[in-house]
Amino acid sequence: MDQATTLRQIVKSQRAQEAGPKPRSGRPRVISITSGKGGVGKTNIVLNLGLALGRLGRKVLVLDADMGLSNLDVLLGLTPRYTLEHVMNGRKDILEIILTGPEGVRILPSGSGISELSEMTFEQQMFLFKELSRIEDDLDYLLIDTGAGISSNVLRFNASANEVVVVANPEPTSITDAYALMKLLAIKYHLRDFGLIANAVISARDGDALYERLNGVCTQFLQVNLAFLGAVPFDANLRKAVRQQRALIELYPASPAGKSLSEIAARLDRAGASTPAHVSAPAPAPAEKPASFWDRLLHWQKVR
Ligand SMILES: Nc1ncnc2c1ncn2[C@@H]1O[C@H](COP(=O)(O)OP(=O)(O)OP(=O)(O)O)[C@@H](O)[C@H]1O
Ligand SMILES: [Mg+2]
Repeated sequence: MDQATTLRQIVKSQRAQEAGPKPRSGRPRVISITSGKGGVGKTNIVLNLGLALGRLGRKVLVLDADMGLSNLDVLLGLTPRYTLEHVMNGRKDILEIILTGPEGVRILPSGSGISELSEMTFEQQMFLFKELSRIEDDLDYLLIDTGAGISSNVLRFNASANEVVVVANPEPTSITDAYALMKLLAIKYHLRDFGLIANAVISARDGDALYERLNGVCTQFLQVNLAFLGAVPFDANLRKAVRQQRALIELYPASPAGKSLSEIAARLDRAGASTPAHVSAPAPAPAEKPASFWDRLLHWQKVR
C-alpha cells in the first residue's frame, strides 16, 4: 500500500472513531465476498471475518450463496438438517434452518434450494426474499459468500450488496479474473466501488504489488475505485484449521493469517461509520425507505 493510500485510510478510520459507535440503522451492512477465479480463499475469508466481527460484538449472518457447491457448514463441521430448499417448499421456517457457529455467527445454508435463482418463478423469488428480509432487522452484518466466476448469480448477488469485496491471490490468473469480474460489474451493473483483500501473499510487499497492479488497471480502464482492505499471508495454520473443520480465528487467532483477518475485520467495522455504502441498483423501493438488499436482488432478477 502506498503512503497516500495508508494515510487516506488512517484519516478515514480516525473520522470513524470520532463519529462514535455506529447508530443502528435497522438494516445490516451487506458485504459480498467474491472472486473471479475459484479457490482463492473466499469461503475461509468470509467465515473468519464473520467470527472476528462476532468477537467485536457484532451480529453477523453469513449467507452461503455458492450455489450448489456450498461448504461453509463443512468448514465448521456443522451438518445442516435443513436448508433454504426446505423453506422454499414450505416445510420449514427460515428461523429453523439457521445454524449458529462460534462467536454467535449465524449461517444460512443454501443447499441446492436456490441452486439457480433464475430458474425460480417470480413468485418463488418473492417468497424467498420476503422470508430473508424477516431476519435482517436483527443483524449488523450480512456477509455473502458468492462463489467464483461471472455467472449471473454471482453478478446479481454482488450488484445487490452494499459493498463488494474482491479476493485475489498473487497468481496472474487470479488477478486477470478479478479484473474481468469488476469490469462486468462496472459495465453491466454500474458498480463504482470495490474493496480488495489480497490473499495467500508471501510478504506484505507481495500484497501491495497485487493491489497496485489491480488498482492501476481499474483506475485507467474502468474508472472504478478500489480500496485496499489488507493482505492475508499464506499460512499453513489455515489449512490445518480447514482439515480440523474449525475456523482459523477460533483455533489459531494469533497465527499470521488469523491476525490479519482480525485486523481487516476491525478496519471494515471502523470504516462502516464513515464509508457511504454504494447503492448500485435503482431498485423499486417504497417511497420513504431506502431499497434493501432483497429489494435490489429482486430488481436485478427482473431486469436481467
Ligand atoms: N491464506 C491462506 N494460506 C494458506 N492456504 C490458503 C489460504 N487461503 C486459502 N488457502 C487454501 O485454499 C483453499 C481454498 O480456500 P476456499 O475454499 O476458502 O476458497 P474459495 O475461494 O472459497 O474456493 P471456491 O471458489 O471453490 O468457493 C483452502 O482450503 C486452503 O487450503
Ligand atoms: Mg468457496
